[in-house]
Formats: sequence, C-alpha cells, structure tokens
Amino acid sequence: MSTATDTQLLRVQAIRWQAQGICSYELVDPEGHALKPFEAGAHVDVHLPGGVVRSYSLAGDPSDTSHWLLGVLLEAKSRGGSSALHHKVRVGDLLQVGAARNAFPLASAAQHSILIAGGIGITPLKAMAHTLQAAGASFELHYCARSPGHVAFMKELQALVPQAHLHFHFDGGEPGKGLDIAGLLKVAAPNTHVYYCGPVGFMNACAQASEHWPQEAVHSEHFKAPEPKATDLPDGAFEVHLVKSGETIQVGPDQTIVRAIELTGRRVSTSCLSGLCGACKVEYVDGEVDHRDYILSDEEKTHCLTVCVSRAKGKTLSLNL
Ligand code: FES
Repeated sequence: MSTATDTQLLRVQAIRWQAQGICSYELVDPEGHALKPFEAGAHVDVHLPGGVVRSYSLAGDPSDTSHWLLGVLLEAKSRGGSSALHHKVRVGDLLQVGAARNAFPLASAAQHSILIAGGIGITPLKAMAHTLQAAGASFELHYCARSPGHVAFMKELQALVPQAHLHFHFDGGEPGKGLDIAGLLKVAAPNTHVYYCGPVGFMNACAQASEHWPQEAVHSEHFKAPEPKATDLPDGAFEVHLVKSGETIQVGPDQTIVRAIELTGRRVSTSCLSGLCGACKVEYVDGEVDHRDYILSDEEKTHCLTVCVSRAKGKTLSLNL
C-alpha cells in the first residue's frame, strides 16, 4: 500500500466505456495542476471504496501531464478492485492515488521494439507506443483480443500507430486461432526488444515463444500471478529476524511474511499481495530466499525479496527492518 506521503487525491474527470467489460478512467488534479511526469510502463496504486488498493498501469501519453489514464477490465472473479471501479466510482469522485512506479520500463538502446498485448494488457503497451512514436523509434504493436468489440482504445491506437505497424489479432475466444506468437518471435532479431503483457495463458505462450531470445531483450508484466509451478518449494515454517528492531518472528507454513510481521503490530507497504507490483520489496541481509515474485530483476533478488509471497529456503531469514 502506498504511504500517505506519496499519495495524492485525484478527481475522476471522465469514465469512458472502451470495450466489452473495459472502462477507462481519466484522473486529474482537483486544482488543475499538472501531474508528475511518468515513464511508459509505469503503474500506480489506486485506493478504492471498500478499502482495497489495486495497481493499474498508466495507459496515457507519458508526455501529457494534464491527466493520468487507466484502463480497467471488470474481472468476472473480482477480488474487489475492478468491481469497485466499475460499480462504485463515479465521475467527480476523489481517489487517493500513489506515485507512479515503473517495473516495466522501455530499453533505451533498442533499435526496434515488438509490443504484444493480450486483452487489457494493452494499457502499459499503449503508453510505450506513445513514447516510441514521439521519439520516432521503430516499433510494431500486436493487440490480441477476442473480437473488435473487446479492443480498448481502438481509435486512439489507430491515430497513434502507423497502420503498417498496428496489428489486431482476433481469436474468437480460441487462442490457437489468434496471433502465432511463436512464429512472430521465431527469430531473435539483433537489437530488438520484446514487451508483452496480458492474461496468464497469453503470458505463458509469450514466455515460451521468447525462450531463445537474450534475457535482457525480453520484458513482461503480469497482471495476475500464474498458478504455482510444480517445482515451487513446499511452504515450510521459518523464522525471520528483523535486524533493525531486533525482533524475531515465526512465519507459519500457511502464513506470509507480511502477515507474520503485521501480527507484531507493524505495517509493511503492500499493494497486489501477489508478487506482481514490488510495493512490499524489502532488503534481506542473511538467509537463502525462495523468490516467488514476478517483478524483481535477478540483480534485485541478490539483496531484496517481496515479503508478500517469497519465503525462506532454510530455517531463517534476516530482513533489514
Ligand atoms: S505487494 Fe505487490 S509484490 Fe508484494
């Protein structure tokens, strides 16, 4: 959860129906001030009615500081976030919104970029398209959806991306009939970077299709945590030392580190609670970590962990808290 110091109250200036199940939300400063610039790929925490906090990618033009734009799909099994936005939030409401954070940045050195969106995964990629187009950079955008009626921001994308570089792929709900992702990524072209975002099955297909690409040229952002892999370690109990406070706490087999810390009366910043956003990133100073997140880079994993999902491989972990 974003802390009070890095959140701001923003007014919902417009809500637009974008596509089947998808609405966009335009957020502005209530006094009309410019908002802080953000980088393409960034997301923000939105504090919603009912006390839930959810992360949403910023879908607008990063160079336009007049408003922030969200695109939100009403999830059939909403845990409260998309349902609150779709059913409770109205034009004129004020929402507490966190600072923009970017865990899905564009690589500045790329000579060509391939953006692949699955459904609502278009939101961060649309922001990237704005940035790449403004820079005169070479890129192509592939947008996979069930049908034209499921495409959000259609008109904006058509105005933004040159026709030859904008590709819609409709599968009628059968992924096998849509974009041939393996074919698209068959050749790992030099100086080319791939970015993808979408639902779990789509993410798995993209990950598989890009396995032979250099790791640093492939970038992704998950909206939902994939099912646990069979190779994941079992959830054993372990002990956590909080180095700064000197406390030692027990983490049970069915408890997260966040929960165990909260039971001591302390607060840890959290948002997605699924290892997706990085809000709960904490430094560790000792112990071996079973990293279960989808956000930290390999370098970050050498000294940080996400305490909402990650665990200890051994009996103890020491955190810089
Ligand atoms: S709260 Fe989002 S990664 Fe932990």
